[in-house]
Amino acid sequence: MMANPHALIEGVAITSFAIRSNHSFIYLRGEVVHVYRRLLQAVREAYEAGHLGKNIHGSGFDLDVTVHAGAGAYICGEETALLDSLEGRRGQPRLKPPFPAVAGLYARPTVVNNVETVASVPSIIGNGVDWFTAMGTERSKGMGLFSLSGHVTKPGQYEAPLGITLRELLDMAGGIREGHELKFWTPGGSSTPIFTQDQLDTPLDYESVGAEGSMLGTRALQLFDDTTCVVRAVTRWTEFYKHESCGKCTPCREGTYWLTQILKRIEGGTGTQADIQQLLDTCDSIAGRSFCALGDGATSSIVSAVAKFHEEFEQHVALGACPFDHAASALFEYGAEEAVEEPVADAAAEPEAAVADEAAEEGEGHTPDDYDGTAAISALNEFARVNDPKTEKDA
Ligand SMILES: Cc1cc2nc3c(=O)[nH]c(=O)nc-3n(C[C@H](O)[C@H](O)[C@H](O)COP(=O)(O)O)c2cc1C
Ligand code: SF4
Repeated sequence: MMANPHALIEGVAITSFAIRSNHSFIYLRGEVVHVYRRLLQAVREAYEAGHLGKNIHGSGFDLDVTVHAGAGAYICGEETALLDSLEGRRGQPRLKPPFPAVAGLYARPTVVNNVETVASVPSIIGNGVDWFTAMGTERSKGMGLFSLSGHVTKPGQYEAPLGITLRELLDMAGGIREGHELKFWTPGGSSTPIFTQDQLDTPLDYESVGAEGSMLGTRALQLFDDTTCVVRAVTRWTEFYKHESCGKCTPCREGTYWLTQILKRIEGGTGTQADIQQLLDTCDSIAGRSFCALGDGATSSIVSAVAKFHEEFEQHVALGACPFDHAASALFEYGAEEAVEEPVADAAAEPEAAVADEAAEEGEGHTPDDYDGTAAISALNEFARVNDPKTEKDA
């Protein structure tokens, strides 16, 4: 969205035309102000070039695009919570059916798609279906973005055919940081069961990742080397899910709270052997019993980490302490003053950021709790008002 927001807007125009929708919305988290600015600018340019608005290029087709900055909630990515949020309500998932395609935004038929999906449409139209389906695997066609973060030499977004392996991606990304080995990683973000070195050659397509017991999810590959305490990483992810649980259903609202308590005990060295089983039992009370997939996702990393690194959980209990040097796994100088001065609520933005943000964990710096969201959103709204293409046209 930063490098080529026009691809998204072109995709929005094409897909809206396909379903004869005259109003599309692009919803993004309010914290990513730089992306918001870039999108507003691109939408304005598209209006000015006549690609949006009334009677687009004489086609008789009208399309307005509204870019909406949410107040910053992970759950607002879930399609029905997103619709509630767009309608001005608190973002919480809706009961389905009715599905959005039947009764969505303001109870009108609505199609909700991921930005990557929509942004890939212009290149498919331009190059043809055969071009697209020639990439990928037998059942997972095409290419996609793989986001590499954590202990990797060159983190970033890598566009590659589905079916590429992590080993091949690491070749492009300069490998795991020097002097260390890969310990565990997420194939699809922190809500998917973790992988280890054993899956380095697993094709990253939907079927192969599923067969290995995980999911391709968001293709957010978070990589952790041998300096990382798996209990600590899982605790940070779980804190994120506890914070982002929308509270609508009891298993997730209460369960993520209790998971955090148990994990903190184990990680801090005051846990018992019984806590490890209690952890799994609590996961069992959440997964498959929650209203939406956030609850399931919150348990994935825990269950898989206990299965793959059981001895590490036991070690914490036996030692009464964490056996790892936390400074060794940090991506910046541990405890450095400038690190705690980092602005914006990154710890709330993404789980991987939360894991890396050691300073916030120590109770210092900017955490989700002390982030002044109201001021940021007011600034955003003012920015939107000033930059709204339609406001400018009317003026
Ligand atoms: C807790 C939760 C968070 C989600 N967050 C996002 C998100 O940030 N972006 C997104 O595109 N889809 C997100 N989704 C998935 C959407 O509900 C929906 O399935 C998706 O946008 C459909 O797009 P696609 O079919 O183009 O992949 C989330 C789902 C859940 C359960
Ligand atoms: S699973 Fe969690 S996020 Fe989803 S509806 Fe229930 S409380 Fe909300």
